[in-house]
Amino acid sequence: MKTGQRSELKSLCEQYSKFFYIGAAVDCDRMDHYKAIIDRHFNSITPENSMKFNVIHPEADEFDWQGADAIVSYALNSGKIVRGHTLLWHQQLPNWVFSSENHPICRESLLRIMEKHICEIVSRYKGKVNIWDVVNEALSDDIGFFRSTSWLDVIGEDYIKKAFCFAREANPDAKLFYNDFNGNKKDKQDRIFELIRGMKKENVPVDGVGIQAHYNIFYPELDDIKREIERYSKLGVRIHITELDISVFDFSDGRKDMIIPSYEQLQRQEEMYYRIFEIYRQYNDVIDNVTLWGVADDYTWLDNYPVSGRKDWPLLFDEQLKAKNVLNRVMDIR
Ligand code: G3I
Repeated sequence: MKTGQRSELKSLCEQYSKFFYIGAAVDCDRMDHYKAIIDRHFNSITPENSMKFNVIHPEADEFDWQGADAIVSYALNSGKIVRGHTLLWHQQLPNWVFSSENHPICRESLLRIMEKHICEIVSRYKGKVNIWDVVNEALSDDIGFFRSTSWLDVIGEDYIKKAFCFAREANPDAKLFYNDFNGNKKDKQDRIFELIRGMKKENVPVDGVGIQAHYNIFYPELDDIKREIERYSKLGVRIHITELDISVFDFSDGRKDMIIPSYEQLQRQEEMYYRIFEIYRQYNDVIDNVTLWGVADDYTWLDNYPVSGRKDWPLLFDEQLKAKNVLNRVMDIR
């Protein structure tokens, strides 16, 4: 049997089973819509928004488990793993967190809020969700080391370490990740490396780095992708590719008039996905999971970023939920 024929018969996650898990981000409102594709091609699921602070913990004494529960039970019933996303972030925060009656909120009160938030969620899914993006995007993209956030302002620089310790307490068996973007850029990569190195030195329980991988057909350089993986692997941590997608637009391209992607854009996208998966396979000794940030081109966060209301086509399945040619390229692992 020729390689091409064999690829068509296998699913994406079967084809990659000896390398790493293949995941997709999805929310419960689109789970049925994508069920056939997810059932067949993905063996890992990340809730795109259902576990974010404002959704799961909308009021101080109220947790809303509906969306997260639905995703977790679907995943478990269909033999898939779940990447929990994300316990602490500067976005998607409900107002109550930073505006208490004893305004301004003090370090101790905020630490108790953080502890309750992390412990309730991680404990609820103990044994079901064993991978967590504990802290998301806490480092600066320009000057300074830390991103300027209210968590940092109120608690101080140790808020990241505290978050990992709370998560470990709640589930000693969970694998705990720091998740960020732009690590292909030298300055940001240095910060991520230093953060993890420092935490390991102080025995803070961090198990891995999540490389988000929001790329486009022109960016980044493949060598920078390799360098980033090599750098983190020196820290003795695991690596997950947590949010892969490849926009068909250069970041500075503001066009809004396209209704379908051009042949050239799709060709470039195929080549980029092919090369990137080739790199991931090369480093499969440290990479355990490659997750796409979405399922099919009919819905992607990139439809509103960086140009609001501009359609993008960054994924492996098209707007009719049919496999794009790029899927065959990714499955070609000769
Ligand atoms: O659910 C509400 C809906 O009730 C309301 O009518 C509608 C009006 O705008 O908003 C809906 O919420 C939106 C939510 O997605 C669900 O669709 C939010 O406005 C919107 O901001 C939110 O965007 C998400 C974004 O994170 C912010 O949380 C994207 O879907 C999600 O793909 C994106 O994912 C992030 C990762 O978590 C972290 N890394 C970057 C990545 C891309 O930004």
